[in-house]
Amino acid sequence: MKSTIAELPKNVDKEVKIGAWIANKRSSGKIAFLQLRDGTGFVQGVVVKSEVGEELFQTAKSLTQESSVYVTGLVQKDERSPFGYELLVKDVQLIHSSVDYPITPKEHGTEFLMDNRHLWLRSKRQHAVMKVRNEIIRATYEFFNENGFTKVDPPILTGSAPEGTTELFATKYFDEDAYLSQSGQLYMEAAAMALGKVFSFGPTFRAEKSKTRRHLIEFWMIEPEMAFVEFEDNLVVQEEYVSFIVQSVLKNCALELKTLGRDTSKLEKITAPFPRISYDDAVKFLQEKGFDDITWGDDFGAPHETAIAESYDKPVFITHYPTTLKPFYMQPDPNREDVVLCADLIAPEGYGEIIGGSERIHDMDLLEKRVEEHQLDTETYKWYLELRKYGSVPHSGFGLGLERTVAWISGVEHVRESIPFPRLLNRLYP
Ligand code: 4AD
Ligand code: MG
Repeated sequence: MKSTIAELPKNVDKEVKIGAWIANKRSSGKIAFLQLRDGTGFVQGVVVKSEVGEELFQTAKSLTQESSVYVTGLVQKDERSPFGYELLVKDVQLIHSSVDYPITPKEHGTEFLMDNRHLWLRSKRQHAVMKVRNEIIRATYEFFNENGFTKVDPPILTGSAPEGTTELFATKYFDEDAYLSQSGQLYMEAAAMALGKVFSFGPTFRAEKSKTRRHLIEFWMIEPEMAFVEFEDNLVVQEEYVSFIVQSVLKNCALELKTLGRDTSKLEKITAPFPRISYDDAVKFLQEKGFDDITWGDDFGAPHETAIAESYDKPVFITHYPTTLKPFYMQPDPNREDVVLCADLIAPEGYGEIIGGSERIHDMDLLEKRVEEHQLDTETYKWYLELRKYGSVPHSGFGLGLERTVAWISGVEHVRESIPFPRLLNRLYP
């Protein structure tokens, strides 16, 4: 009977055939241990010479790393392995013999591994990160579908720049100038006026010359947008969403988190509500902590965010940033013109900002004024301004960066490991 490694627990004491690759191997004179992987998981295959005979034992012993095989064997419980099962091998058929696989069990440098990303993805650790990523994606769809949101796909090729003009990837659109989307938000606002509660999930691009563990040039963003939702309610959706994906990963990726050596007790604490601190108080807090480089009006860098996050064991919202630090579309605080109704959600353990969100300006005159102040081309934003002309309503939304969230939940150091093929400042290959 054909099986996959993931299905082995359902087939205990049965003989199954799996297609697999040899991830690793060790052997003595009488017994060989094959570390098998098939994409669905990893399992140890045990080949006992006295049971399979000399010829098959020699075949098994000579298998090279990443050779592909069909293995037939008896599924057995194995309490010692993290997976809990092993395969007592009865037969091995070689499909393709792999020669000189470059990634050996010894340590390799990061650049070498990144050059071999197309192969590195096969490793147990990278496999686990991709599974966690997939679970976050699955849980995202579940959360928004269960809560009455409609998925809407904004365009990738755009004529406008929601998050400022300095980080745009320009391209030719026949005779016109176009940009790769840095956020779908403006289109999602239009969609919210048509469908109420919407979310997008797609690639976004930032031509940022940043080379940090948090920055990618191409990353995936989840952008919900909600009509008739104001600042406070927007935060509630965010904390419920983030709690939901963390708890889903804990529930459905226990083996992967174990492979990654993730401290799950930290993740278990991630339940709504999350703490909130105003930008004003965050500045005071940092000054008291001895950060003398921060005064009111300055943006926070990674060390500042980390210092604030360290005071909490949950993600923390930093709210009400100065208007001057944020994009043109954010709604001013009605009690204070100098700050906006926005929040950044900062992940624990130094992973930084995972969400940026706000209430949006719904007053036409104010929005027109802001477009001018930011020296944006009113013609390009005409359609966006029109949303304020025909039945304008208070509305809010946010954007969650998938890779930073994957890195945090998996506990991997750098976002380059949280996307299959990262686009980095110095890397477009493979
Ligand atoms: O804070 P940002 O720039 O917000 C927006 O784009 C809004 N228009 C979203 C909205 O309200 N609909 O980006 C949102 C999130 C950040 O919090 C971060 O998680 C992620 O996107 N992000 C990046 N992730 C990886 N690499 C980069 N260069 C990123 N830039 C932003
Ligand atoms: Mg931001």
